[in-house]
Amino acid sequence: MLNQTAEYQSCIASSEKVSWRLDELLPQDTVLDFSRRFLSDALTGSEAFRFLSTDEKLMLNQIRSNSYAHLFLFLEEYAVALAAQRAGLELHGNPTHMRALLRFTEEELKHQQLFARFTSAFARGFKVSPALLDTRVAVARAIMTKSNLGVLIFNLHMELMTQQHYLETIRGNQDEVLDPLFCKLLKHHWLEESQHTRLDFLEAQKILAQAPDSMDAAMTEYAELLQALRGVLNAQLQLDLETFEKAVGRTFTDAESKELAESQERSYVWGFIGMGMKAPLFLSRLRALSPAAEQRVLELAPTYYCN
Ligand SMILES: [Fe+2]
Ligand SMILES: [Fe+2]
Repeated sequence: MLNQTAEYQSCIASSEKVSWRLDELLPQDTVLDFSRRFLSDALTGSEAFRFLSTDEKLMLNQIRSNSYAHLFLFLEEYAVALAAQRAGLELHGNPTHMRALLRFTEEELKHQQLFARFTSAFARGFKVSPALLDTRVAVARAIMTKSNLGVLIFNLHMELMTQQHYLETIRGNQDEVLDPLFCKLLKHHWLEESQHTRLDFLEAQKILAQAPDSMDAAMTEYAELLQALRGVLNAQLQLDLETFEKAVGRTFTDAESKELAESQERSYVWGFIGMGMKAPLFLSRLRALSPAAEQRVLELAPTYYCN
């Protein structure tokens, strides 16, 4: 019989230890410093273009960083639904599990507010108004039509990808000078996401204890969700390119436009899909749930430029 209560209790304790207040981390009236890159070039790929000036590369970096913040707000819409649904299942059940899952829900809502504040501050200070996807509720509803196990695996990917971004491109990056405020936001997001990744795993274990044969179908759903995510990333990329042309105030040749679109598509897919699939903790947690599931991810990886 699975007894996970001590682990849920430990998630609550860690969550209480690292918890932060939105108004302290990012006050409403924050003014952003547009003289620096927000995200590392490893996540924006904005330095790769010989036909862009230094200022234009910086603008592309900032547009991509703003979209990055927006995409978290956008994608956390389903994470809130998932965590709330899992918490609801423990009503009159295990109060420790329920508390941990309610904290998870509350933290995701707080993260959405954090990223919304950032994108508002960005819009106030950037030279043009950035175009951002506005279909987050429809996308969250579509994601939630999958089984909870399929969405938990997808969420494990997303949350461990977030961790990987922070560890590889901020904490482990001594080579680039990045905006300290944006680094601080990602660090605080990561601090709370660390508990979420543990809860995703515990909830997946809980489902598998009841339905040991459900992993295969859940992995098929995970693969479908990655395809859908690719569609969302491409849609945001089209908007980024429009915003970028407006910001630089010039049109690109056909060859330049093609290079921009293709290279930025690879950057998006690698950042949001490849880095999640390759995250060592994602693979080891999947292996702990089912070695066949890890194998499926390894087989799928080349589709997303990660050989
Ligand atoms: Fe989050
Ligand atoms: Fe999360």
